[in-house]
Amino acid sequence: MSFSADWLALREPIDHRSVSASLRASVAQRFAARDGLHVVDLGCGSGSNLRGLAPHLGARQRWTLVDWDSGLLAHARAALAQWADDAQQDGAQDDGALSIMKDGKRIDVRFRQADLARRLESVLDPAPDLVTAAAFFDLVSPEWIEGFCKALAARGLPLYTVLTYDGRETWEPPHAGDAAMLAAFHAHQQSDKGFGPAAGPRAVQALAGSLAANGYRVARELSPWRLGASDFALMSELAKGAAGAVLETGRLEPREVAAWLAARTPAASCSIGHEDVWATPG
Ligand SMILES: C[S@@+](CC[C@H](N)C(=O)[O-])C[C@H]1O[C@@H](n2cnc3c(N)ncnc32)[C@H](O)[C@@H]1O
Repeated sequence: MSFSADWLALREPIDHRSVSASLRASVAQRFAARDGLHVVDLGCGSGSNLRGLAPHLGARQRWTLVDWDSGLLAHARAALAQWADDAQQDGAQDDGALSIMKDGKRIDVRFRQADLARRLESVLDPAPDLVTAAAFFDLVSPEWIEGFCKALAARGLPLYTVLTYDGRETWEPPHAGDAAMLAAFHAHQQSDKGFGPAAGPRAVQALAGSLAANGYRVARELSPWRLGASDFALMSELAKGAAGAVLETGRLEPREVAAWLAARTPAASCSIGHEDVWATPG
């Protein structure tokens, strides 16, 4: 499954304002005394998670951004260079590290193309200080989550993950097709995205359960998108994306989907449920 850089750019400011500030503060607190920190970001896309989290971490950071999509990795490199106050490219354009300065922090970024369905262990070695991911865990299967949690526990690694879709949605004004659309959308969410049938809206439950079974202390906070009139562009893309996904399932008639989509563009407001997780080894 591929994600467009335009879609990720559209959601980035809403993602950043939606994450749980208290959970993020706990992460920052845990590493406050550290001079130098290595963070691995799984399914990094165009680097939004780094831009959201790095300002809350220490003065020297090293990030490894992992994605299987080379186009998004190239986009991440360009977007981070643009975001930085100063950026230095180390070596060849496509595979060198990027050293950036941002608000007095030095952040060295490496970009790694890897299929996390197959190459997870290699991405976790040598062990970083923190593993993170944004908007990623709903794509993976419960079985992958179990293996992932075992791999984390074997290395004693903390995990901070934000914006995992949790299945809770409300749209205003209500429409007669909402419940059927949401059920069909959830069926699509649980289709195979490259890791086996995806956990979709059950991902946080699976992740929290598996982390606890591996001896982790797990803190969870809701991080819903609360969208209103000023978020028209994102709401429209969301509605179009949901309609396209539902059509792919074949569960609803195209005319039912079209009627729902017409009513949803524009919608007055909506809330899309997500959850953040901060897990530390016991
Ligand atoms: C919803 S996007 C989130 C991107 C980014 N974390 C953000 O918050 O903007 C999911 C990301 O996971 C990546 N991804 C999906 N399957 C993957 C796989 N098997 N291996 C590595 N990355 C994968 C996608 O390419 C995409 O960048």
